[in-house]
Amino acid sequence: MRASEDAGLRDRRRELLTGARGRVLEIGAGTGLNLPLYPEQGIVELVFTEPEEPMARRLDERAHARSPVPRVVRAPAEDLPFDDDSFDTVVSTLVLCTVGDQDAALREARRVLKDDGRLLFLEHVRADDAAGARRQDRWHRPWRAIGHGCNCNRATVPAIEKAGFRLEHVERGTVPKAPKIVRPLAVGVAVPA
Ligand SMILES: C[S@@+](CC[C@H](N)C(=O)[O-])C[C@H]1O[C@@H](n2cnc3c(N)ncnc32)[C@H](O)[C@@H]1O
Repeated sequence: MRASEDAGLRDRRRELLTGARGRVLEIGAGTGLNLPLYPEQGIVELVFTEPEEPMARRLDERAHARSPVPRVVRAPAEDLPFDDDSFDTVVSTLVLCTVGDQDAALREARRVLKDDGRLLFLEHVRADDAAGARRQDRWHRPWRAIGHGCNCNRATVPAIEKAGFRLEHVERGTVPKAPKIVRPLAVGVAVPA
């Protein structure tokens, strides 16, 4: 992924994260690639969740570089240990492809988000064109096996709407320097419907 980040993905992340404000929750934060990209202003509290222990440890280490130090919580996106209506922003980058139950993760994101909150997402998604989608379906199983559980063919944008969000803004693009099956990208903002 390093080549993709250097070729423009990091800039897309940074641009998306300019929309983060108030109490911010990032789900499946991995080792914290987004950490240095959050704006300095406008964020009251930053909470990261990550279920995989080795990643959460790296995230813990990195988190200490920021002040105030963000909270790192070991939890799956499908079962968030937070109150209803408790965050102003939920961030998901390259996570909804991997979570075991995407609908449950999105329901949880909706539950913890305040009614005037925003979901910021950057996800690789199902191809719009039939040939691209067929290719993703063909490669889904082998890719999942080598890609740490990543599903290359998920129709994530319709799933966001189905979970009770309205798309405020969505931009389609491509993940630079990525294999064809994980190239279609959707970056956007969704609000509670
Ligand atoms: C491709 S990585 C993306 C990491 C980070 N969000 C980023 O943008 O670089 C996918 C992440 O999803 C996490 N993940 C897998 N299953 C998850 C689940 N059920 N709930 C939350 N995160 C999960 C993985 O541990 C990993 O950190």
